Order: sequence, then structure tokens, then C-alpha cells
Amino acid sequence: MIQTRAIDVESIRRDFPIFTRKVNGKPLVYLDSAATSQKPDGVIESMNDYYRRYNANPHRGVYAISEEATAAYESARQKVATFIQAPSPKEIVFTRNVTEAINLVRYSWGRANVRAGDRILLTEMEHHSNLVPWQLLAREVGAQLDFLYIDDDGLLRLEDLDRKLEGARLVAFTHQSNTLGTINPVKAITQAAHRAGALVLVDGAQAVPHMAVNVADLGIDFYGFSGHKMCGPTGIGVLWARRALLEAMPPFMGGGDMIKRVRLQEATWNDLPWKFEAGTPSVAEGIGLGAAVDYLCGIGMDRVRAHERTLVEYALEKLQDVPGIRLYGPADSEIHGGAVSFSLPNVHPHDLATLVDREGIAIRAGHHCTQPLMERLGVPATSRASFYIYNRPAEVDQLVEAIEKAQKVFN
Ligand SMILES: Cc1ncc(COP(=O)(O)O)c(C=O)c1O
Repeated sequence: MIQTRAIDVESIRRDFPIFTRKVNGKPLVYLDSAATSQKPDGVIESMNDYYRRYNANPHRGVYAISEEATAAYESARQKVATFIQAPSPKEIVFTRNVTEAINLVRYSWGRANVRAGDRILLTEMEHHSNLVPWQLLAREVGAQLDFLYIDDDGLLRLEDLDRKLEGARLVAFTHQSNTLGTINPVKAITQAAHRAGALVLVDGAQAVPHMAVNVADLGIDFYGFSGHKMCGPTGIGVLWARRALLEAMPPFMGGGDMIKRVRLQEATWNDLPWKFEAGTPSVAEGIGLGAAVDYLCGIGMDRVRAHERTLVEYALEKLQDVPGIRLYGPADSEIHGGAVSFSLPNVHPHDLATLVDREGIAIRAGHHCTQPLMERLGVPATSRASFYIYNRPAEVDQLVEAIEKAQKVFN
């Protein structure tokens, strides 16, 4: 593991106003960042500042505050491009979230390129956002879905990858599982997919907030993520795609901003990326995402990852001692990102989440939008603790104590 200077968690926590509040009389222990992260002052202030000082529709006005809004929004796009090492900001399409980014590819690229009999290769660990859109496309065009399955450690079984890639047009999979925490071997799968002539879409919702991502180096074709999981606001997400693909793809939604010239019977399309951004964009949210990128860059993504890795290692070690606990996902923190799922005999995950909430601890209980994975694991739901830059090792101890207390209620 690369040695990086540890992050100063206490100083980071002071940037997040939510940590001054109490929940059920206790300081908030927030262990649900895989669902959405908390927001630092800088992000909240950047959005306030837009609404207070230069609220205007970007791209349209020639007056000062509209130009300021355009500059701030487009500067956020440049920040995002640099953050994921995209060759150009023209390849950064702003969407509402990763769900919309994936659906954009489904509607635009998918309808134009996937034909009856083609295969779309997915995995058993996908979030519904990277499964249901492909079910819909497959049904619409007569394509077939196939899946990579997992082993008992929560790793993708890749031994029959080449066979499954025969006839595949697209391979779509998550960079990091939101339920198991598994970090998938993106490069290896991508190289095999490209050898077989398939394109690759990666769902980066759980990766971009937590590790340094370089889309050019990964060699993939499409990459999506959501702002709200990386210290940014809700309502803004990103689709990155290789420029040649975006140039060739038809528009997604029609309307203002995405056109160059409109006549009664026809229209021509705006340049990239605006061809894919119909209507007034989420301006404040885009600016907020730019501030979130600044914030994470100020910490350094290698340090973010190192911190989470320490927390996951500690959590896996401590949770193991809870009587009867079943832990899901890889035991090796090298390939286990900041989400830890577990279940207990005799305590339903929802009851557990309710009981630990009494101690001020927020964890997730449910299927985590991965119902097929739950079926594979043989459970209707799991409990999930997920970590971020503001979590302390002591919060793992608090969680374990609260779990043991909950067990006493049921035993
Ligand atoms: C791996 C993964 N993909 C997709 C999503 C969907 O994200 P959003 O609801 O922001 O579109 C999530 C959210 O939990 C996720 O964890």
C-alpha cells in the first residue's frame, strides 16, 4: 500500500455543519455515505453564493450575471474533467445523477447500436440503476442479457469471461459494489471486452467519491457518477464518454440549449457536451459539484482512499468478534471499498438500524437496490455501514457496542 500522510479527521469534521447536531440526544454517527454523503460548508456556501449574487440562466444572457453563471457552471465542468482525468471537458455531460447518465447511454447509444440477438453483459452485483435500464433496452430491441456471477467472497468470477463476451455489444458493471464493497478489476474486464469488440460502461457511483479515478487510464468507454455521494449536492451527476462516441450518438432529450438551428420540421444539434443537456441545467448544483471537487482535491484522493481502507480494515476486524455475525464482501481491504454489509442471526436488519439509531448511529438496512444480489446471498436484506472522510475509528467501536446492545434486546 502506498504510504500517504493520514488525513486530519477532526479538522475535516469541522467543515461539515451537520456534525454539530445531535440525534436522539447523542452526537450523530453517520455511517451511510454510500447512500449519500454529508456536505461541507464550502459546497453549501458556493450554492448560496450563486443564488444570492449571480442567479441567472447560463448560456443565454449577454448581461454580467448570466455570464458569471455561465463561467461558474462551465468552470465546474472543467474541474470535473480534471478530477477524473478526462481528455476534455467536452466529454463531461452533466446529468441529474448516475441513474440518468446510464439511461442516457441506454436511450442514445443503446437504441442506435444494440440489435436483436446482441448480448449485453452485466454482473450479479449491479445496483438496479445499472440493471433495469438494460432490461428495458433488451426488451425493446430483442437483445439478450447475460451475467457475470460472484463467488463466496463477493468477487466476480471471471473464468468464463471470454466465452460470455462472444456476441456482446456492451459490458456494463460497477467499479465498486455499493453492497459488498468489492472493487472490481476494471482494466482487466475492459481489455477482454475490447478484444471481443464490446464497449464498456462503468458505474462509478461508489468509486469517484472514494478513490482517484483516471478514465483515460482505465481504457473504458462510458463512466457515470453522482455528485451527492462525493460531498456535492443532489440533482447533479456526470456521464463521461469518449468524444468520438458522444459525437456519433443522437441526442437524448430535445429542447432548449441542445440545438444549433431549429426550423419547423427539423433541427441541428449543439456542440458537445451541450447536445446532451436539454433545458435549463442544474446551475447551483453544478457549481456545488465544482466546489465538492475542490474540497476533495484539497484533501487528496489517495489520502481519502487510505483513510477509508484503515476504517474498513478496523471495521472488518471488530465486527468479526460480534457473535454470529455474517460479513459479506472481500476480507482483503485492498479490494474492499468503504462499505461493509453484514447480517446477524435473530435480529432483522431493519430492527438493528432502528435500535442503533437510538444511539445516534445512522446505518442502512435493506436490499440496497441490489435485489438479485440479495437472492444470491440468500437474505432479504443486510445491514450496511459505509464510511467516508469524516468517520473516526471510534465510530466503529460505537457501532459494535450498539450492535451488541441490540443483540441483548433480542436474545
Ligand atoms: C453503485 C451504484 N450505482 C448507482 C446508484 C444510483 O445512484 P443515484 O440514485 O444517485 O442515481 C447508486 C446509489 O446508491 C450506487 O451505489
